[in-house]
Amino acid sequence: MRLVHVVGARPNLMKLAPVYRAFAAVPDIEQSVVHTGQHYDLNMSDVFFQQLGLNSPDVNLHVGSASHAKQVAEIMVRFEKVLSDTRPDLVLVYGDVNSTIAAALVCSKMRIRLGHVEAGLRSFDRSMPEEINRLLTDQIADFLFTPSEDANQNLAREGAPAEVINLVGNVMIDSLVRMLPACQMHLPPNLPSHFALVTLHRPSNVDDLPWLDEMLQSLAQIAARLPILFPVHPRTKERMIGLRDGWPSALRLMEPLPYLAFLALEQQATVVITDSGGIQEETTYLGVPCLTIRENTERPITVKIGTNILVGRDQKRIRDQVEQIISGIRKKGKIPPLWDGHAAERIVEVIHRLV
Ligand code: UD1
Repeated sequence: MRLVHVVGARPNLMKLAPVYRAFAAVPDIEQSVVHTGQHYDLNMSDVFFQQLGLNSPDVNLHVGSASHAKQVAEIMVRFEKVLSDTRPDLVLVYGDVNSTIAAALVCSKMRIRLGHVEAGLRSFDRSMPEEINRLLTDQIADFLFTPSEDANQNLAREGAPAEVINLVGNVMIDSLVRMLPACQMHLPPNLPSHFALVTLHRPSNVDDLPWLDEMLQSLAQIAARLPILFPVHPRTKERMIGLRDGWPSALRLMEPLPYLAFLALEQQATVVITDSGGIQEETTYLGVPCLTIRENTERPITVKIGTNILVGRDQKRIRDQVEQIISGIRKKGKIPPLWDGHAAERIVEVIHRLV
């Protein structure tokens, strides 16, 4: 069987790695990786391939940054050519980024079977580009691999046939479980003994400049109580230029980190403050308190049974939560079922049975 994996953005890479590895153990599978080039900086892409033990992509479409319409359209045109040349038996797409929906649409039009890894997650917020990407990809995929029971329920409610929905667990946690033992060697130097780790990149947060400024000021206040390490996403860095001249030194701004250094920090952090999707899951697995600066989440299981708290835009609530965590009061969480490091093997079993 010929299998093509499509990735494009940073969060796709830790999902691809375990699936690629699990298929590599199966005879008669010829697999290749297409990178759309949506993320192109070395520290947003290449270093992740290296650390996750992946070979360089077989094909890079080099689409780069553009408006969403142009980015999706360019990926479609360039990926159609790849599929015409290779005619694989199956394509796997990951997560909810523009590369995911673009590749999915091409497969659907060329009638090539498509599997969606991390299917069924819903924030029910259609102002998020990722929500549209998730909804549409799930509508046209032939195999839906879900990380949690809530995703199965969402898909069933939307009319997906039961036989295409497969609850396999969380492939991102597969990577975390595998890489955790190695990550402590990658801790950045001169770390404070207690710190908050911050990431922000959602357009709803960082493209709203008055709100971004307010959030950063609030973080500066928190940093006076608990030092903050803040690896800044390129989108956020762009928006922060010109906002103000200097930030307090306790708010330590840094370049985006490689996977292992980031995992090491996440594991050591007193609290993580974020608007990322995957980080809500990783902190739940690690049992580290997570404050999510969003009104909703497509990963409700991290709130229901994990360590995640949605704090929305309530700055006082964020500061109060941090104070509580500093004083030792923290939400106790559990690890969701099937977040056990073996989700990718379950995907291989399903494909092996059905294709
Ligand atoms: C994308 C995903 C988001 C995911 C995030 C992880 C979509 C719609 N969004 O958002 O779901 O959580 O990736 O990072 O697909 N840039 C660089 N270097 C890079 C990549 C981007 O400088 O390697 C800059 C460019 O100025 C670009 C901006 O960051 O315009 C945004 O990049 P883009 O890939 O469009 O979206 P993200 O915000 O990264």
